[in-house]
Amino acid sequence: MAKPKVYVTRMMAQEALDMIAQVAEMKVWSEELPPPHESLLEEVRDVDGLLPLLTDKIDASVMQAAPKLKVISNLAVGYDNIDVAEATKRGIVVGNTPGVLTETTADFAFALLMAAARRVAEADAFTKKGRWKTWGPMILLGQDIHHTTLGIIGLGRIGVELAQRARGFNMKVLYFDEIRRSEEEERQLGVEYIPELSTLLSQSDFISLHVSLTPKTRHLISAAQFAIMKPTAILINNSRGPVVDQKALYEALKSHQIFAAAIDVTEVEPIPLEDPLLTLDNIIITPHIASASFATRAKMATLAAANLIAGLRGQIPPHCVNPEALKH
Ligand code: DGY
Repeated sequence: MAKPKVYVTRMMAQEALDMIAQVAEMKVWSEELPPPHESLLEEVRDVDGLLPLLTDKIDASVMQAAPKLKVISNLAVGYDNIDVAEATKRGIVVGNTPGVLTETTADFAFALLMAAARRVAEADAFTKKGRWKTWGPMILLGQDIHHTTLGIIGLGRIGVELAQRARGFNMKVLYFDEIRRSEEEERQLGVEYIPELSTLLSQSDFISLHVSLTPKTRHLISAAQFAIMKPTAILINNSRGPVVDQKALYEALKSHQIFAAAIDVTEVEPIPLEDPLLTLDNIIITPHIASASFATRAKMATLAAANLIAGLRGQIPPHCVNPEALKH
């Protein structure tokens, strides 16, 4: 029997590619930048499986161009790049990669938090630009991390891991979420539920975002939210860029309405070089690398391969966001 055909939109861990090559005829886009939409439409014409990245928009036009498509296996836990409703309608299962990146992503959120509080990136640039003339009592002062309050918005897997890291720094941890944890879980995690977002924003020294991008969370943090934060507050975002209104963020940082921000995601990725945020010293911007450790990226790739292979076999992938698709 002929092997199913698969299109992979970027090079990734060899282990994962080997897994796929054993069961399918595979083509991999080998450029650094994503395949242009027109090429994608061309490449998917006769594939049974597609393994895209979050940089590939998989909308109805792609699915329309791929009449044999059975499975889309995203190399990410987030899947806002895929029109899942459309996939479900067409009986295409969609896989993602939760779990394997949780701790690595939480580590990075904490790294951003510490770097912004203690002005690590600014201090590094200060030294390299030859501005270090002496030890000075007022040079590059930042905010303490220990014994402060961290407000987590979205206490899912990554939020929980962040809370655990914060406890090691004797931080008080508040959280806001649509779903409240049980009292027992809250006690075990050492977190306090805050039913109003505004209360969490006004009481926190650090605010870290861990929500998925949905119509409800788009611009969840905008001018009105910055207005109630402390002037010493620091915003961390390694969820999705559009959760924060970037123009409002610029204004809040420029006017020192808040102390600093550290973000791993931007409204448009990559952030355009003319974006005014890039002119500010009180923001750290990293290029969407929260899950980028060698070990985690390999685990993500092998999990995406396992999801893809299950979907090719007509099974529900181990991590599937729309198992109901198989009823169609
Ligand atoms: C994801 O998986 O959704 C991240 O944004 C990239 O690891």
